[in-house]
Amino acid sequence: MKTALLLTGIVALLGTPSSGLKVSTSLDWIEYTPQRYAADNFYKGSSPVQISSGGVATIARDNSVDLAANAETQGLKQLSGRRSLRLIYMVCEAQYRIVANKAKGINALEDLKGKRIGTIPGTSAGYFVNKFLKTAGIQPGQYTVASGNACMKAPCGQGTLPQMLQAGQIDAFGLWEMYALYTTAEKLADARIRADIVEFVRALNQTLDVYNNDPKKVFARVAELVRSDADVVEAVWPEHLWTGRWAPDLIDFLVEEDAYLAQEDRRQPIPRADIEKFLDTSILDELGL
Ligand SMILES: *[C@@H]1O[C@H](CO)[C@@H](O)[C@H](O)[C@H]1NC(C)=O
Repeated sequence: MKTALLLTGIVALLGTPSSGLKVSTSLDWIEYTPQRYAADNFYKGSSPVQISSGGVATIARDNSVDLAANAETQGLKQLSGRRSLRLIYMVCEAQYRIVANKAKGINALEDLKGKRIGTIPGTSAGYFVNKFLKTAGIQPGQYTVASGNACMKAPCGQGTLPQMLQAGQIDAFGLWEMYALYTTAEKLADARIRADIVEFVRALNQTLDVYNNDPKKVFARVAELVRSDADVVEAVWPEHLWTGRWAPDLIDFLVEEDAYLAQEDRRQPIPRADIEKFLDTSILDELGL
């Protein structure tokens, strides 16, 4: 009897789709926190936002997800298989650059030739290292890439990039990304969902105002969300540009990056016209942002 009741309860749960916006995102990065802050402090949509762990790959395969956030590299990778994906808001440009060990004789970019460089391969960080070293004439075969993890709080554990640098396992490491909000053309065409997306982007815009102009207010909360320390968050804050709308030259940047990813992933490059459609300013335009 009890089992039967329980089963009925489960069926009822499954049969009731929630009407709140579902957002899939990485919960580990500072760049993610404006979504949480916007949902908690400013969002005025139809019902509360549900934020869960994932990213743009989730929105491409799970139709119940309305929004996703991830770096531009993952966006392009998913766009190659799903052309209705849309990038609608630029949350952050995280400019970590390359950190190197002076004790290994590294004083300029050129000195990285023949060195062992830590990054996160297959991500925007990996792309950045490749692109940045090329500007000094260093080709992919002229250095070694070592994979490592991020560290949010000291002491940094085994296999994290700062620990590897300190232990001499790598000579330098590089991280970088453009962190954006994605949805699909289908979601944007659904009037009810679109109205909530507009409200969410409005709330993000209010959040970025705080992040840009009154960040002291959020250091502790951001640190708590990503399990870091408030003074570390404060120290790295200038490396994060809280952007909103992107510059017109982003299209050229993405076309170039996609050519690189296409080669890495052994696929055809995405036609420029499809990347133009991917960069969808309709929500920003609607809000006058
Ligand atoms: C976006 O944020 C700015 C402050 O940075 C504010 O002045 C503006 O009214 C906001 N726009 C919308 C549509 O909320």
